[in-house]
Amino acid sequence: LNDGLALTPPMGWNSWNKFGGNIDQWKIMSMADAMVENGMKDAGYEYINIDDNWMAGTRDANGDLVPDPIRFPDGIKGVADYVHSKGLKLGIYSSNGTKTCMGLPASQGNEERDAAKFAEWGVDYLKYDFCYNERPTTYAPDIDKIVISDGKNIKTYEAESPDNTLVGDARIAGSKVGYIGNNSGELIFNKINTPAAGNYTLTIYYHNGDASRNLYVSVNGGTGEEYTLPSSGSWNTAATYPIQVALKQGENTIKFYNPEDGSKISAQQYGAMRDALEATERQIMFSICEWGANKPWLWGPSVGHLWRTTGDISDNWDSMTSILDQNAVLAQYAGPGHWNDPDMLEVGNGGMTDTEYRAHFSLWSMMAAPLIAGNDITAMTDATKEILLNKEVIAIDQDPAGIQGSKISEDGDHEVWVKPLANGDKAVLFFNRSQASTTMSLNISDLGLKKAPVYVVRDLWEHSESAATSVISAAVASHGAAMFKVHPGTPNMAQPATDLTITSDP
Ligand code: GLA
Repeated sequence: LNDGLALTPPMGWNSWNKFGGNIDQWKIMSMADAMVENGMKDAGYEYINIDDNWMAGTRDANGDLVPDPIRFPDGIKGVADYVHSKGLKLGIYSSNGTKTCMGLPASQGNEERDAAKFAEWGVDYLKYDFCYNERPTTYAPDIDKIVISDGKNIKTYEAESPDNTLVGDARIAGSKVGYIGNNSGELIFNKINTPAAGNYTLTIYYHNGDASRNLYVSVNGGTGEEYTLPSSGSWNTAATYPIQVALKQGENTIKFYNPEDGSKISAQQYGAMRDALEATERQIMFSICEWGANKPWLWGPSVGHLWRTTGDISDNWDSMTSILDQNAVLAQYAGPGHWNDPDMLEVGNGGMTDTEYRAHFSLWSMMAAPLIAGNDITAMTDATKEILLNKEVIAIDQDPAGIQGSKISEDGDHEVWVKPLANGDKAVLFFNRSQASTTMSLNISDLGLKKAPVYVVRDLWEHSESAATSVISAAVASHGAAMFKVHPGTPNMAQPATDLTITSDP
């Protein structure tokens, strides 16, 4: 959203990854204390976010959500006041559904009432989930087959072999049904070979139940045309519907799809909560937790400040890297006020090694991901602190240009990532997915920096600087990452780093 919030990716803490539903106001407040005391606040962390299970099992007599009276006796207002007194902000959780994922009352159909409460309590951030979501089901007709005719030649394509060649001359509509799917789905006929360009009659053989239903038809990737196919009487009765299509000579592709795609519905539903939050006139960050189900990157920028691009992260290497890969291809959709959210951090939760957590944190920062810690920040090992409090890496995440970095090359399990920064510098990440440690390198000329005789290479984990003329190289542990900031110039000699190496005479 373009309202001045989330100009850089949000930073904070959330209760879910470590505690699940096991939360109460004392735990939440102790996290606020810790965030101030352990340096996280100084490093830029700002939000203390309560996830699922804060609410009582039923709404009150007015229909309002109420906090669990045993675990949140001072209410969300009490917690918000406390968190605000620490100079921090409070986040809360609900679902775009009739229940939260833990089965508690949620906000679908109660958007205005709930948003007003959140604002009254002093909430600054809403994570809005997708469990128990209700939406209309829009059926599309079942397609048996299509028949293409230029008036002389008739060719039939059966829906069961949609990506196959023609089946022969027209046959009686049979048992073959091409299923498009409710609210989404496509049926594609490839390799429709025609002898000449021209207008053809496309007869759709379909089953439609007792109502008319809409079908979109797109020819050769063109904009879909909407057709209303009349009722066929019952789902057992076939009907035909002829339309005219312009085909080219040779291979054509015809796609049938359901006009009610899920993106439209999600955009409307999450939009209802956005409107409700805006109506409160309190600035509330809106985190769309739709799991990437209906391509939120396409509609999210006008609906929320960030959107989950994937299912839930878990505290292991495979989950982390799978989420990484799903989020990485969406770089073009991220920017100030609208971020891809590859889910909260697992750093410090124990299921990965410190080396893997360092890679996790480095990669999330390269991708300009929200940095929402998900561990117990009241009790962190030195290694966990060193990761979550690495201001040089955080600065890459928080760079004001807000460009999501991308992989620029890969050699098997060895990947090079680059993130352009607002001042023209480049952040560079070497990522080693393999089981063996390795040495990785990069030609500085591949970075597109201004040509210079020498470059400063700042190592963001070693906190040291060196000079390089043409190549950056580093040892990278198995499942590890090395991260640098590179710009033309010579290292600052006034504060030499311990392992400074000069490879050209300045
Ligand atoms: C979903 C969300 C998680 C968490 C849980 C809570 O799974 O994606 O991040 O909020 O619900 O129940």
